[in-house]
Amino acid sequence: MICLISGCGGQPEFSHSEKFQTLKPYAQIYVDQVLDNYFGSPSDMVAWDKLPLELHYGQGTVVEASGRMLTVELQAPHAEITAGTEVLWDSGILNDKDSAWILEWDEAKHQAKLESPLATNPEVGDAVILGPGQILATGRMLYAEHCQHCHGVAGDGNGPTAPYLNPRPRDYRKGIFKFTTTQSSKRASREDLSRIVEDGIPGTYMPSFKLLTEDEMTSIIEYVMWLSMRGELENQLIGLLADSYSVEAVEDRIAGGDETSDTIHQEFIDAVNDPDSFPFEVDTIVSRFTSEWVSSQEPDAEVQPLTPRTPSSDESIAKGRELYLKPSLKCAQCHGEAGLGDGSQTFAVSKDAAGQDNLTPGLYDTWGNLVKPRNLHSGIYRGGRRPIDLYSRIYAGIKGTPMPAFSSTLLRKSNPEDSGSEMTDEDIWHLVNYIYSIPFEDVKAGQGGSSIANPVKDANTASEEDSEEVAVN
Ligand code: HEC
Ligand code: HEC
Repeated sequence: MICLISGCGGQPEFSHSEKFQTLKPYAQIYVDQVLDNYFGSPSDMVAWDKLPLELHYGQGTVVEASGRMLTVELQAPHAEITAGTEVLWDSGILNDKDSAWILEWDEAKHQAKLESPLATNPEVGDAVILGPGQILATGRMLYAEHCQHCHGVAGDGNGPTAPYLNPRPRDYRKGIFKFTTTQSSKRASREDLSRIVEDGIPGTYMPSFKLLTEDEMTSIIEYVMWLSMRGELENQLIGLLADSYSVEAVEDRIAGGDETSDTIHQEFIDAVNDPDSFPFEVDTIVSRFTSEWVSSQEPDAEVQPLTPRTPSSDESIAKGRELYLKPSLKCAQCHGEAGLGDGSQTFAVSKDAAGQDNLTPGLYDTWGNLVKPRNLHSGIYRGGRRPIDLYSRIYAGIKGTPMPAFSSTLLRKSNPEDSGSEMTDEDIWHLVNYIYSIPFEDVKAGQGGSSIANPVKDANTASEEDSEEVAVN
C-alpha cells in the first residue's frame, strides 16, 4: 500500500453510496475507515497492491551496484520513463522516504541510473517501483477533466450533467459494463473499456475520446477500474453491515427484547477488532471481485465465434428473420415484430429487485432505470457495429440489461446430438445479417432517411469483403 504524495488540495470528496445513510453512525464510520485505508480520498489517494491494477509506471530490479550508484532494469513499463521519474524501494513496506529520481534513462536497454537514497547500500536483485502511483494520479487528473461532470467523482454516474441525460452515465460501482466482447459471466476486458472510451457510445451522450494518447488511455482505464473496485467494496460492505447494523435493523433487534443499543454497539466493536469477522469479510469481498476482474482479462474470457461470419445473402437474411420471430427466442417480444423496439414486454408490468411491481410498465436495467429494446431500424448500435460486436451482443447479451445472452441456447459443434438447443453458431450470423438488413428494408420501401441508411450500407459492404472483425468506424 502506498500513500501518494499528491498534495493537490481542494479536490471534491468521494460521495457516499445511497444506502450509507441507513447505517448506524458507528457503522458509517467503519465503512469510511475501510475505504480510507485502502483507497484514500481524491486529494490523498492510496495505491493498494492487492488490486490487480497497473497503478505505477513499472517495476524493476537492481542489476548493478557500485557504492551508491546503481543500475536498475525494468520489466515492461506502462508509461514513458525519463530522467526525473521517481523510483521507490520495494522492501516490503513502502515508504516514500526511500524514493530516488532517475538520473539517466537508457530506452534501448530499459535501464536507469540513479543514486541510492537508502541508509544501507542496496544489493543486486532488490526490487523497485517506478513512478509509484503515477498512473493512478494521472488517471485521476484526466478523469476530473473529461469524465467527472457526467460520471461523478466516485464513479456513481451522478455528476452534475447526469440528471439531464438518458440513458444515464454509467455507475461504475456495480462493476458491470454493458458493451463487452467477453462471455456473459465475465466482466469487461481492458480493451472493451478503452474501445468504448475511444469510440464513444453512438446514440447516447457518451462522447468519443480519440485524441487521448496511449499512456493517457491506460491511466484513465486503470482509474475507472479503480473507482469501480472502490465502489464495489463500498456497496458490498454496506450491504453486509445493513443486515444487523442499519438504524432499522438495530431498532428491530432492540424490540426483540434481549438486546440493548449498548450491547449491539459493543458487538459491532468486537467484530471490527476480530480479524476473523469484518476484516475477513472485507478481504473476501475484495478477493472475489479482484479474481473476477483478473479472469476477465484472460483470452478465454472472450467471445469466440466457432465459424467465420456467414456472408449476407437473401437466404441468410430470411433465416435470420425466421429466428427473430421464433417464439422461444423472444426477440420480437421485446423488439417487436417489425423491430421497432415496441414488443409486448415493453408494456407489461415488471418486478423490481425487491419483487415489487414497477410503477411504470416496461423493462428495467440493474441500475433501476427504464430501458427500451433497441429500435432496429435506426441502424445505430451502441456496442459498435462491427459484425463481431453484433455477434457478441446476441451471444453474450448486454450486461446489466434485459437483453439476454443467447450462448446457452447454442448448439455447439462438439455436441451435435444436443437436440434441446435452439440455435447454431451460423444462426447467430443469420441474425446478424438480418439485423444489418432491417434499416435497408426502409430504404427499399422508400421510408428510411439516407442519413440512417448510409452508415449501415457501408458497414454491410465492408463486412462482406472480409467476413470477420472488420472495423468499420
Ligand atoms: C456527456 C456525458 C459523458 C461524458 C463526458 C463521459 N461519459 Fe462515459 N458514459 C456516458 C453515458 C450516458 C454512458 C451510458 C450509455 C449507455 O448506457 O448506453 C456512458 C458510459 C460509459 C462507460 C460504460 C461502457 C459500458 O460498456 O458499459 C464507460 C466505461 C465510460 N462511459 C467511461 C467514460 C470515460 C472514461 C469518460 C472520460 C474520458 C467518459 N465516460 C465521459 C456519458 C458520458
Ligand atoms: C427481454 C427483452 C429482450 C429480448 C428477448 C431481446 N432483446 Fe435485444 N435488446 C433488449 C434491450 C433492453 C436492449 C437495449 C439495451 C441497452 O442498450 O440498454 C436490446 C438491444 C439489442 C440490440 C442493440 C445492440 C447495440 O449494440 O445497440 C440488438 C442488435 C438486439 N437487442 C438484438 C436482439 C435479438 C436478435 C434478439 C433475439 C435473439 C433479442 N435482441 C432479444 C431487450 C431484449
